[in-house]
Amino acid sequence: MSSMPQLPHIPGTDPSSCVFDAFRTAIAKRVSDALPPLTVEQVYNGVDYGKKGVDFTVALPRFRLPGKVDELAGKVLSKFEKDEWVESVTHDKAFLHFQLNTSNVIREILNQVHQLTHATESGKPEYGTNTSGKGKKVIIEYSSPNIAKSFHVGHLRSTIIGAFLANLYKSCGWDVISLNYLGDWGTQFGMIAVGFEKYGSQEELEKDAIKHLFDVYVQVNKDANEDPNVKVEAAKWFKRMEDGDESALTNWRVWRELSVKKYEGEYNRLNVHFDEYTGESKVGKEWQDKALERLEAMGLISDVDGAKIVDLEKWKMGKAVLRKKDGTSIYLTRDIAGAIERYEKYTFDKMIYVVSSQQDLHLSQFFKILKLMEFPWADRLEHVNYGLVQGMSTRKGTVVFLDQIIKEAAQVMHEQMQKNEDKYKAIEDPENTSLEIGITGVKIQDMAAKRINNYTFNWDRMKSFEGDTGPYLQYAHVRLASIGRNNPHLFPLPPPEQIDTSHLVSSPHARDIVFLLGTYPDVVKVALKTHEPSGVVTFAFKLSHAISSAWDTVGVKSEKDIEVARARMWMYECARHVLAAAMELLSIRPLEKM
Ligand code: ARG
Repeated sequence: MSSMPQLPHIPGTDPSSCVFDAFRTAIAKRVSDALPPLTVEQVYNGVDYGKKGVDFTVALPRFRLPGKVDELAGKVLSKFEKDEWVESVTHDKAFLHFQLNTSNVIREILNQVHQLTHATESGKPEYGTNTSGKGKKVIIEYSSPNIAKSFHVGHLRSTIIGAFLANLYKSCGWDVISLNYLGDWGTQFGMIAVGFEKYGSQEELEKDAIKHLFDVYVQVNKDANEDPNVKVEAAKWFKRMEDGDESALTNWRVWRELSVKKYEGEYNRLNVHFDEYTGESKVGKEWQDKALERLEAMGLISDVDGAKIVDLEKWKMGKAVLRKKDGTSIYLTRDIAGAIERYEKYTFDKMIYVVSSQQDLHLSQFFKILKLMEFPWADRLEHVNYGLVQGMSTRKGTVVFLDQIIKEAAQVMHEQMQKNEDKYKAIEDPENTSLEIGITGVKIQDMAAKRINNYTFNWDRMKSFEGDTGPYLQYAHVRLASIGRNNPHLFPLPPPEQIDTSHLVSSPHARDIVFLLGTYPDVVKVALKTHEPSGVVTFAFKLSHAISSAWDTVGVKSEKDIEVARARMWMYECARHVLAAAMELLSIRPLEKM
């Protein structure tokens, strides 16, 4: 931004990673100069994106200045002189609308996208990232299925949203530790141990541990309905596990390990990763005892029929049981102790639990108890919740395993693509392509609306290339990648300072695209505040739409003037990088071809 006039620096802004920070500052400066004693900082926080055709808007009443808004606006207007940043200002009731200098906006934004994609210190694309989390550590726990039980859509949502949050925090400079907190402990393992003696098969187990353990669990539950002895045996077995009896733990260890291995493969296909596979089994018994002791000492525990209870009625959170009569541990106690243990281990600045809203009460009980225990870090815990999904079944029936969802998504997509024979023949790797597009379809449907909304999963919509769908998004990226391939005569592109961006100024379509690219760093920041992937999804579609509206008038191949064609090509390249960055943030792998 060397050629642009100097601006004051506003704390928290960073024009070197967000060009609009500079343009907003320029606007804020004019308003504060005209309306003392307002400071640039004060005005800056009131510079918002404008609606339809307006670049930025300032709503005057928010500053609570004495005098009529018309007079205040008049002062700004009469003092206004256009410069390299701002082209014009108009006044409509309480609002001031600003238009930026188009040619400078375009040049500055494309330069920044280029710079932060190709020439970063880290060697990785950085456009859209920021350093607001530098030096801070966040633990993000997500997915967390239960071994030997079904993987339901709630787990899928946690997986998708959690992976997004992990990417998001990383791109905001946080040190991220991602945890998968497996349901790998509890009486169900006593049941499986009993069932395994009758129904277990080493071969089946090695082939697909998740499925086999589930089958055994279903079988032994049937037996238990007929024979009460089964449950008694199972409870005995689990007690031995809790007491650390090696002979009762050996099989369990193998089951856990093989299940994790299988899951790892599936998470890989989803482009989802964990730093650690922890689980309920890993919460130290001593931490649970210590937690209970502390609660007792603080007088927060009451004994009800031998069970230990914390009364949370005062906060309308009911009564929470922390230890059963028989002394076995429970889910809630493990979560409380687990949080303490994690704090000791990681000293996190924040810890996020991505868990369905069905467990709102559980999470609020457990956060509340940690607060009552006066842990100073208790308010660093955050629950990111989400609504229910209906209708996620395959043609074969209800989904119980993650790989069923993945397979069905790939198959549905494969069939869809085969419908267009010519196109299908041109695909190099139809299997993998349909798998990636299918997964994209599932993820986009999941992240398109606010997390808390329930939604009904729809395979027809998921596979469609029309409307705001996953396949459409992949198609938009592929199309961008293909203009580069189809115009080899323009490459290598000259360095940015030799590209004449003034060729882009006259096209409103080009301006729309570049303006959107400029908003991306803000989209990321908003997502970090709201923990909503939907804003990023909306951005990706807006950008895709802007690009597809531009094809006809802002052509590359059809353009005979090579300077003009190069400027356009450069813009599309920048757009491709930003679209890819947004998709990657959403854990989607952008395709180059289809
Ligand atoms: N395994 C649990 C379930 O399937 C989810 C775990 C959520 N995380 C937690 N820390 N409680 O319901």
